[in-house]
Amino acid sequence: MQADELFEQLTLERYPCSSDASLTAFNQAESILVNRVLTDFGTTKLSIINENFGAISCVLHKQIVDQYNDSFLSNFGCELNLKNNNCDQTKPLLLDPSLLTGDLIIGLLPKSLSFFKWQLEQLSKLNKPVLIAGMVKYISSGHINLMNQYFEDTQVSRAHKKARCILLSQPKKQNSNNTIPKHEFNNIQVENLPGVFCQKHIDIGARFFIEQFKNIEINESYNIADLGCGNGILSLAMAKMYHKHSLNFECFDESMQAVKCAEHNWLLNELDKSKHSAAFIQNDGLLNQAPKKYDIIICNPPFHQNHTVGIHITQSLIKQAKVCLKDDGEFWLVANRTLPYLNELKSHFKCVNQVSQNAKFKVFMAKKT
Ligand SMILES: C[S@@+](CC[C@H](N)C(=O)[O-])C[C@H]1O[C@@H](n2cnc3c(N)ncnc32)[C@H](O)[C@@H]1O
Repeated sequence: MQADELFEQLTLERYPCSSDASLTAFNQAESILVNRVLTDFGTTKLSIINENFGAISCVLHKQIVDQYNDSFLSNFGCELNLKNNNCDQTKPLLLDPSLLTGDLIIGLLPKSLSFFKWQLEQLSKLNKPVLIAGMVKYISSGHINLMNQYFEDTQVSRAHKKARCILLSQPKKQNSNNTIPKHEFNNIQVENLPGVFCQKHIDIGARFFIEQFKNIEINESYNIADLGCGNGILSLAMAKMYHKHSLNFECFDESMQAVKCAEHNWLLNELDKSKHSAAFIQNDGLLNQAPKKYDIIICNPPFHQNHTVGIHITQSLIKQAKVCLKDDGEFWLVANRTLPYLNELKSHFKCVNQVSQNAKFKVFMAKKT
């Protein structure tokens, strides 16, 4: 049976669910990968990387022994779909691709080139073949160059329904040359781990947002949530600006690399020696956090989930912010001025002010009362 038919027999959902019916829980890259495994590697022990929402894991669950995935949303979706389709429990989630134990590593091409480079470097240590798939429009010359840099043999399949898979074997021996990009902004040192948002500079939306922090009234021991913290720049800037306070920061991101990076930057700037405290949490926004906990929530929201551009994630973050904000708390959000967040905020918060704007961005403050 072909992968598409196998997928159709399953109940598969995206996570978070989307009202856009054109967004499916699998695509042709997953189909071409599963078909190739069924044809050529039907009994091989598999490890999987960069799973999307679990379509591959459901079909190949008897062969898969472990997995690597940076995304909380994908892992959560994968677990839900495995459960809903009565497949085995989720396989061990390893912290580094170089720990995978399968005889063949299969997976999907990540969007970020810096993240792909790091993954290839880790995978090349395993000395095992890697079968990776992607939609043709997302396989850039940068991806191909990296595969050639790390593997002697790269066999690119013919395109089928606008997807390809690539079999990599014979890893090249080389020294690690993954240099971490470093930036300085307002006396803050920032290092970006591979895959973390805005590798090459400090995001211009974040810069504009930080300029507005002087308008936020911050009391001595406020609880502050940084929603979608990325490299942690927003919390770092606020912590430095209010260095005499004892603020409690909780920095959330769905990406494990981002959470590690934000914690790394907190230590790099020696804020562990300040009066502030900070926790770094991988989560889908504020999912399962205590209601009415935060005095201030700051957010520079995402505008895509992998290759899917949309406001669905931010809509869910706005709803969560409302639940977790104290009654007199404030939700501060920066957004590209073309995005429809004013109405979205107004549908959840009683009082919404546009605090500032420039040619590209707007900053909003929303309150429940
Ligand atoms: C536009 S970036 C902002 C990063 C950083 N705060 C800054 O200002 O540079 C958005 C961040 O949200 C994260 N993100 C996306 N979906 C999320 C979710 N459901 N929960 C938490 N974080 C999420 C992304 O991984 C990314 O790091």
